[in-house]
Amino acid sequence: MKTFIFLTILLQIFVLQQVRTNECELTSNDDIQLTANEFIQSRQICHILNLPTTNKRQISITGRLVDYTTRCQKSISNANVEIIRIHLNHRSVCSNIYHSNSDGYFNLTNLIIDFNEEIFLRLTAPSYKTIYKKIHFPLSYDQSVEMILNWKIVLSKDIKQSQSQDDQRMKSIVDTLLSEMTLDEKIGQLNLEGVGFNADGPVITNEQRERIRRGEIGAVLGIFTPQAVRQLQELAINSSRLKVPFIFGFDVIHGHKTIFPIPLALSATWNMTLIEQSARIAAREATADALNWVFSPMVDIAHDPRWGRILEGAGEDPYLGSQVAAAMVRGYQGSNISDVDTVMACFKHFGLYGAAEAGRDYNTVDMSPLRMYEFYLPPYRAAVEAGAGSVMTSFNEINGVPSTANQWLLTDLLRNQWNFTGFVVTDATAMYELIPHGLGNLQEVSARSLNAGVDLDMGSQGFLSTLNQSVQQGKVTEQTIEQACRRVLEAKYKLGLLDDPFHYVNESRAHTDIFTKENRLAARDFARRSFVLLKNDKQILPLARSNLTITLVGPLADDRRNLLGAWSGAGDWTQAVSVLDGINQLIGNNIQVLHVKGANLLEDPDMLKLLNAYGGDIILDNRTATQMIDEALQAAQKSDVIVAVVGETQGMTGEAASRADIGLPVCQQLLLQALFNTNKPVVIVLMNGRPMTLTWEDQHATAILETWFAGTETGNAIAEVLFGYYNPAGKLTATFPRSVGQIPLYYNHKNTGRPFNSSDFLNRYKSRYLDISNDPLYPFGYGLSYTSFSFGPLNADKTQLHGDSDRLTIRFVLGNNGAYDGEEVVQLYIGDPVASVTRAVRELKNFQKVFLQARERQEISFIITTDDLKFFDSNLNYIWEEGLFNIYIGPDSVNTQSVQINWFKL
Ligand code: NOJ
Repeated sequence: MKTFIFLTILLQIFVLQQVRTNECELTSNDDIQLTANEFIQSRQICHILNLPTTNKRQISITGRLVDYTTRCQKSISNANVEIIRIHLNHRSVCSNIYHSNSDGYFNLTNLIIDFNEEIFLRLTAPSYKTIYKKIHFPLSYDQSVEMILNWKIVLSKDIKQSQSQDDQRMKSIVDTLLSEMTLDEKIGQLNLEGVGFNADGPVITNEQRERIRRGEIGAVLGIFTPQAVRQLQELAINSSRLKVPFIFGFDVIHGHKTIFPIPLALSATWNMTLIEQSARIAAREATADALNWVFSPMVDIAHDPRWGRILEGAGEDPYLGSQVAAAMVRGYQGSNISDVDTVMACFKHFGLYGAAEAGRDYNTVDMSPLRMYEFYLPPYRAAVEAGAGSVMTSFNEINGVPSTANQWLLTDLLRNQWNFTGFVVTDATAMYELIPHGLGNLQEVSARSLNAGVDLDMGSQGFLSTLNQSVQQGKVTEQTIEQACRRVLEAKYKLGLLDDPFHYVNESRAHTDIFTKENRLAARDFARRSFVLLKNDKQILPLARSNLTITLVGPLADDRRNLLGAWSGAGDWTQAVSVLDGINQLIGNNIQVLHVKGANLLEDPDMLKLLNAYGGDIILDNRTATQMIDEALQAAQKSDVIVAVVGETQGMTGEAASRADIGLPVCQQLLLQALFNTNKPVVIVLMNGRPMTLTWEDQHATAILETWFAGTETGNAIAEVLFGYYNPAGKLTATFPRSVGQIPLYYNHKNTGRPFNSSDFLNRYKSRYLDISNDPLYPFGYGLSYTSFSFGPLNADKTQLHGDSDRLTIRFVLGNNGAYDGEEVVQLYIGDPVASVTRAVRELKNFQKVFLQARERQEISFIITTDDLKFFDSNLNYIWEEGLFNIYIGPDSVNTQSVQINWFKL
């Protein structure tokens, strides 16, 4: 070990000397002392920090991020560039986030800062070391002149310095282990089993106990808490011949015990720092519960809201989805995966699981290669590039070959093209399911999966029960088994388990790091930032904080069981805050809240039976629908405004929760109908896990606030938004259709040869419907604010560009014209109207989330390079072609201004 540390130091010295002899200098890390709590709060305080006006300065920072290992010749795109401001007088922290563009440039303009603040740049990029760079102001600083800093900032690869030595050590440890293993023990490492537990410890069958003794289980899922994990790990270590420890995996998807909003909601924040932070906190809680592997992030692109699992991903866009994928991996794995508070990520479901035909879960996927490469594969690739340690196969087939047996997918693409070096695990029983897919018996499908590139079998026991025989029969080789075993053992090494099997078991952390006040605060912040204001007529929201009587109605108004959303396995719904409690706690003393239920969640008897068979969450009221509605109407008559909390039940979205009708349940619609008839303003607070069809609700409600399933702090977050303590800024990441008949509906569709134009309504022979418009109800990127933002005219620095290294800068002035401070997500799309293959009408290429105080204006600029023009041609080469391009900028994917440019090769 000592030699190892010595060599590492030597290598570091060598690298630093190398740096000095080169033109680019490695940026030193400036010290920044932030507690986790301060960091979490930093995003909240941005809005309420009222700096004195006297000491204000205006600065702009432009820069370029480059990679040291390429001698600074490679630019680092999509890095997070964050300004952290620490106000010295009140030790408050505030941060804003930007992104470097595809050429590594970032451009932070017109920042207003205070002389009493310390300003840091925090730069994070996948697989690079995070750096903090303090901004020092010259002593003789002319206050009236804007200060412009122009930097070239060098990032160095994370863990590069000790990587080769560590790789060597890993190789020698794993080699030694492999040389001692029998074939059956190697096969045993490829077997993942589910294990139960209770307060006394693990609950395992006698057969499992025997398998553990024989070294026939490599990893387990479903067990946590330090006590239970310690006992099971002890069993593995003490009873098996070679004492190989287990990996402990679990579905930590949007928080472990402190439950955050569902992933679709988190994506609606368009805030990568926040998303990374949510994964960081989840990792900290999960490891405090002795887990070291999470089945997340789910990065499947989905165009079909009938598919219940759309809830688990980041929506429909590959660019945004890639950013979210990388942020999640960074958050889970941190900068060193063997740290006791980081976990190994497992991105999923590889691949194309979100494209199931007809939105029916587990259904067939058939897709052109072009579509795959353009729209569906980028987030998986981003997870690989961010360094994810593992990947899970999907249940579906792809063009005739199920993922779990798909050699092209798991080896040619994943390993050979993308250089993935982690391990591949099947989804639960996915290998067994290859039998009904029609690929043969268990022996056949197990051999085929192994040969295709699967390393770990979750729940099928196909490897365990057949691979030995397959070796004898020549269907698989021992080398292939050893290769898979090596990958599983390498993961154990990387997690630190081969050095200490109890690395993650620490009884005291379970008391200090789980469900803390800070984590709940973060959950509340994440929740309110994920809400999307879909409608707000007559500025009915925010509601007055006094002299107000509200009727709080709806089956979800006083509900806690349904708030956590699918995949919150370790979450405790009894700890969740209902909307009623949230409102009462925040403002109950100042206003009058009349609470009535108004309707059941659901009355469809078949669906009730089906959902209650898996948890019994839906309890019907004894009263009839009419009695409940009458009670609601009586309350409504006495109130100024009606707040109706309606939506789906937790079980109606998630896995195995596809719906053909994605509207509100009928009993809830009847309640809304009666409320609309009162002519009182009705504010709908919606809880759901998918885009829903809300055309009728949109026509009649005064306001609609989309709150998804927001997690543990739901009620507090909703109360803060309803009463204006936070101004909503979320934007949709999946299109809301008007009708199920329009599905699949997504913004980056093709033009077709007969595009429909609504100004030519009577032209029938166009790509259109006779009975409904083509337009969505709410488009991708859409979301309102309590304030109103204006986008000034776009100003392009050129309209004719030449060659690979030319750059286009577009500027405009964003104004906050309303009375509230608020954030706008400024979105940049590019359209390529003429190309060698048909292109999407527009594609998201960049965005900035900008905070402006009321009445404030700010110049915003984007830099566009040829990387932003690239696409896959018909031979799947990633290229750009010269010609005309439309650049669109706006607050959503429809409501944009544009400039047209020509970009030539020479
Ligand atoms: C099946 C789901 O498809 C997958 O997402 C999950 O991680 C596994 N089960 C393990 O629970």
